[in-house]
Order: sequence, then C-alpha cells, then structure tokens
Amino acid sequence: MCSPKSMSWIMIPLILGFFIGSILVRVQVDVPTGVTTFNPTGSKGSALVVYHPGLSDFQEDVTRAFIEGLVEAGWRCDLTTASRRTPEKLDDYDLLVLGAPTYEWRPASPVKRYVERLGDLGGIPTALILTGGGSTARAASLFVELVQVANGTVIEMLEIWQGAPNEELHGIPDPLVIARRAGAELVLP
Ligand SMILES: Cc1cc2nc3c(=O)[nH]c(=O)nc-3n(C[C@H](O)[C@H](O)[C@H](O)COP(=O)(O)O)c2cc1C
Repeated sequence: MCSPKSMSWIMIPLILGFFIGSILVRVQVDVPTGVTTFNPTGSKGSALVVYHPGLSDFQEDVTRAFIEGLVEAGWRCDLTTASRRTPEKLDDYDLLVLGAPTYEWRPASPVKRYVERLGDLGGIPTALILTGGGSTARAASLFVELVQVANGTVIEMLEIWQGAPNEELHGIPDPLVIARRAGAELVLP
C-alpha cells in the first residue's frame, strides 16, 4: 500500500506535467477570426497583417500598434489571425505582415503553418513581428528562413520583448511605441 505521502510524490509531478503539457499544446492551436480593415482609403498600398494571438494580449497589442504606424504612413490594412480561414490570395496586397509569439525558441506554429499553406509568396515584401519573453534570436532566424524559403522578401524583422528590457534592441523601452514607429517608418525595397 502506498502512503498518502508517497502518493503525493507521484501525483504532484503528474499534475504539473499535465498542466505544462496543456499550455504547450494550447499556445500552438489556430485561433480563427474574421478580417478587420483599417484605413480603407489608404493610398500608399494594401497590407495583409496576419498574427497569432498568444495567451496574453501582448502579440495582439504589438501588432495593432504596428498597424497604427502603417495607417499613419497611409497604408490600408487587413488584420486577421493565422488559421485555415486566413486569406491565401496575396495578389491584392503590396505588403505582408506576419506576427508571432515565440514558443520554445520558435515562431508560433499557426503562423508557420499559414506560410507553408501559402506555398509561394511570389517575392512579396514581408515584415515580421516576433514577440517573446526575451530570448528570440533563434526564433527570429527561423522566422526569416521560413519566409525566404517560401519566396518572400523579408524587409523587417522586429523582435519585441515582454519580459526583458527593449532598450537593448531598440533604444526605447515601450513595446507599443517601438511597434508603432516601425510601422510608420517601414520602407519598401
Ligand atoms: C509555452 C511558452 C513557451 C515560450 N517560449 C519562449 C521562448 O522560447 N523565448 C521567448 O523569448 N519567450 C518565450 N515565451 C514567452 C512568449 O513568447 C511571450 O510571452 C509572448 O510575447 C507572448 O505570448 P503569450 O501571450 O502567449 O505569453 C514562451 C511562452 C510560453 C507560454
């Protein structure tokens, strides 16, 4: 017979493992949403912005701040999340923006799957927004590689941290100011 004390030594790691495992699965599941258009009369060009919302609001807030910058610069933007419902026809767009949180040193899988479904990006200028706790270097190079292999032209790789000082990368601390500035200053090749 197991004593209650020895039972708890078995149960605690099991419960912890189940909890961690369910988070690891949950963050990688597609979150389908509709398409929201910002600045429909924007004359600079049309951007398709596709992101994966994380557990917190961080990725969405950063992505929306980037859109504010694009709109400020005159872009029309369609915003949606990465799923099987995401538009896959890029002919109507001049710019693709992909936003992904970092999970286990990789960009979130729903965004990766979306790019793989697109197949050939036809050279479209692509801006990447990668959020993370503070360790994003490996995910950033995988993100760039993912898009380049699919024949996209990476014009921006924006790493923004939730749990480490952003001054190190950007000279200013506020993630939303960084994202908005990057959107406003984005230059096409
Ligand atoms: C399961 C899991 C794994 C993560 N792995 C990393 C990582 O490898 N590097 C990193 O910088 N941040 C990592 N993070 C932090 C998230 O990328 C960061 O909080 C993100 O900007 C927002 O995602 P969230 O809203 O899902 O927390 C991880 C977070 C979770 C939940």
